[in-house]
Amino acid sequence: MDPGEKVLKGLAAGARGPVDALRRPIHDLRISVMDRCNFRCPYCMPRETFHESYRFLKSSERLDFAEIVRLARVFVRTGVRKIRITGGEPLLRPNLADLIGDLTQLPGIEDIALTTNGVLLAKYATELKAAGLQRITVSLDTLDPEVFSRMSGGFGGVGEVLDGIEHARRAGLAPIKINTVVQRGVNDHTLLDLLAHFRGTGVIVRFIEYMDVGTRNHWSPSLVVPSKELAAMISGRWPLEPRDRDYRGEVAERHVFKDGGGEVGFISSVSQPFCGDCSRARISSDGSFYTCLFATQGTDLRGPLRAGATDDELHELVRGVWTGRRDRYSELRASMRVNDLHKVEMNYIGG
Ligand SMILES: C[S@@+](CC[C@H](N)C(=O)[O-])C[C@H]1O[C@@H](n2cnc3c(N)ncnc32)[C@H](O)[C@@H]1O
Ligand code: SF4
Repeated sequence: MDPGEKVLKGLAAGARGPVDALRRPIHDLRISVMDRCNFRCPYCMPRETFHESYRFLKSSERLDFAEIVRLARVFVRTGVRKIRITGGEPLLRPNLADLIGDLTQLPGIEDIALTTNGVLLAKYATELKAAGLQRITVSLDTLDPEVFSRMSGGFGGVGEVLDGIEHARRAGLAPIKINTVVQRGVNDHTLLDLLAHFRGTGVIVRFIEYMDVGTRNHWSPSLVVPSKELAAMISGRWPLEPRDRDYRGEVAERHVFKDGGGEVGFISSVSQPFCGDCSRARISSDGSFYTCLFATQGTDLRGPLRAGATDDELHELVRGVWTGRRDRYSELRASMRVNDLHKVEMNYIGG
């Protein structure tokens, strides 16, 4: 048996629910609770597309909290153990802490995480922690105010995000992880300063290769800094050594600073695709189920949900989609004519 086949057999053997056509179980569920955002990061929601008259979802089109919790329960039945709340900007969703509180009560859920751009975190950190959130991921691409402004589309500020991170720390959210999208010629010259700021604080910075999500961000391979190149650059300043992943299917490759300065992660979906271990499902804000970040089509769950489908029927629907899943877009990227695909946008499907 070749090593790849062994990994897949191992994965499938440990699975609690169905496995897909490539023998991958379902483990993580990412729920986009809000397609709107208070930033316009050009790599995600460029202003020229997401302008003032862009038609975002109406609140009645979005799943309400009871619907989200019900679907989460159905996904737990299929094997999901971890939920990430995302968007768009999830903290724009009114009363989000109530949803976190409900989800933490679900039997079977072992971990709930939230990804935010951090601008509203100072306001909500304590409430989120009180509702049961344990940890948080904050996106911060640079500490340089000009570069920040360019990468957020002119919204928010470094000070606000750092303040949000400080409130999260004081509220007891741990670990705090930082997501940093790296774009060549845009913020790559500021990354060592970002690391210098967080080294030794327990906050874990994770560098994400710029991805070709959606169709609007003018992605080009020349803007991607491969993680290997970045790790070599960082090692030149603070030597690094690799650590094992926390669990199979974890997206970040982990390294620690040899001098004890903490941990840094690399998410290398472009240069080292990890489709073989991908156990993530996604639900868009209006209740479509997607089996890949780069999907072109989802399966509507809101329709059946609102038409009175039972939990068993919803479970069968989800199971059927998952068992037919064959997605491995990142592995095929190089051989595909990507511009011909109508991939869904990340703010809608959830990052
Ligand atoms: C879509 S955002 C949603 C949550 C929240 N608004 C935030 O920014 O953290 C989730 C994550 O996706 C990342 N992201 C967005 N577009 C990306 C791209 N084209 N390539 C890589 N990462 C991207 C963001 O930096 C963020 O860390
Ligand atoms: S990455 Fe997050 S903060 Fe930036 S536009 Fe996308 S959803 Fe908004």
